[in-house]
Amino acid sequence: AADGYEAVFDAAVAADERIEPRDWMPDAYRATLIRQMAQHAHSEIIGMQPEANWITRAPSLRRKAILIAKVQDEAGHGLYLYSAAETLGVSRDELLDKLHSGRQRYSSIFNYPTLTWADVGAIGWLVDGAAITNQVPLCRCSYGPYARAMVRVCKEESFHQRQGYELLLALSRGTPAQHEMAQDAVNRWWWPSLMMFGPPDDESAHSAQSMAWKIKRHSNDELRQRFVDICVPQAEALGLALPDPDLRWNEQRGHHDFGAIDWSEFQAVLKGNGPCNEQRLAQRRQAHEEGAWVREAATAYAEKHRHQPAA
Ligand code: ACO
Repeated sequence: AADGYEAVFDAAVAADERIEPRDWMPDAYRATLIRQMAQHAHSEIIGMQPEANWITRAPSLRRKAILIAKVQDEAGHGLYLYSAAETLGVSRDELLDKLHSGRQRYSSIFNYPTLTWADVGAIGWLVDGAAITNQVPLCRCSYGPYARAMVRVCKEESFHQRQGYELLLALSRGTPAQHEMAQDAVNRWWWPSLMMFGPPDDESAHSAQSMAWKIKRHSNDELRQRFVDICVPQAEALGLALPDPDLRWNEQRGHHDFGAIDWSEFQAVLKGNGPCNEQRLAQRRQAHEEGAWVREAATAYAEKHRHQPAA
């Protein structure tokens, strides 16, 4: 019987149809989605920390309002993604427990510190820009709930990317000290942003299978190249340099060549040895503990209303 189900699943994937929660799916497909969607959800909520660090020090009311809205959006993205992951038969509690105990990952990028106000701009431009490049193809992911969650997430990420770009443009055109601050932020965020796309294709354990299942539509290196090609003219417009002496247009390839990525740094961050890994996880666990009363109150409220007749 499983053979029959598998044939139906394979045919649906081949026809670019969406797999929905009640459909039969291979165990490994389900496990891969849980892994990727959980990692994605965790990244959204851990990703609130580096930028939240600057909310109290935003240089104007306007900048502060934008930053608060943006950080709240990230919390919302985490919620859509946890809900989408729950359709696969896992609970949010279980996923959060795995994050807190280090058994599930979150994106490497959020283990870097935000040292100056310009980092808020660099995160918007580069980190959210990289996130969009990776996530737009996920709107066509074979798993329906994940694909649909990505549509709204991408719209909000586009606003985040624009606000970062506009912030950096203001600094770049400001005083020499402001320009220098913007350049320094870009220097520090460029390479970690390229690492967000994951290991090179020949070292990417999951890519081949995830592409066959149409969870991923492009390889890590393809998306990384697309991102570099998008950023080069934007950096020029910003009047900022990308910190790579080997970056140049390759007429034959129709793409920019770029320098070698330091994969040992990426591996160190994944092993927990990035500049902020400990701090990020400690702060996440603390926020979870401090939120216990909210979860208890919400549970008590839901319980009370379950016993009341519907209005
Ligand atoms: N940070 C942390 N871990 C990573 C990263 C990264 N940037 N890139 C790859 N890895 C991990 C993978 O999770 C995998 O580890 P595991 O087997 O222990 O789970 C390992 O490195 C090998 O990588 P791949 O085989 O290439 O993994 P995968 O096929 O899942 O591709 C990718 C990685 C491209 C990140 C994919 O999971 C993806 O598209 N995820 C959704 C997007 C996402 O998570 N974005 C979060 C950051 S953006 C934001 O939140 C603003």
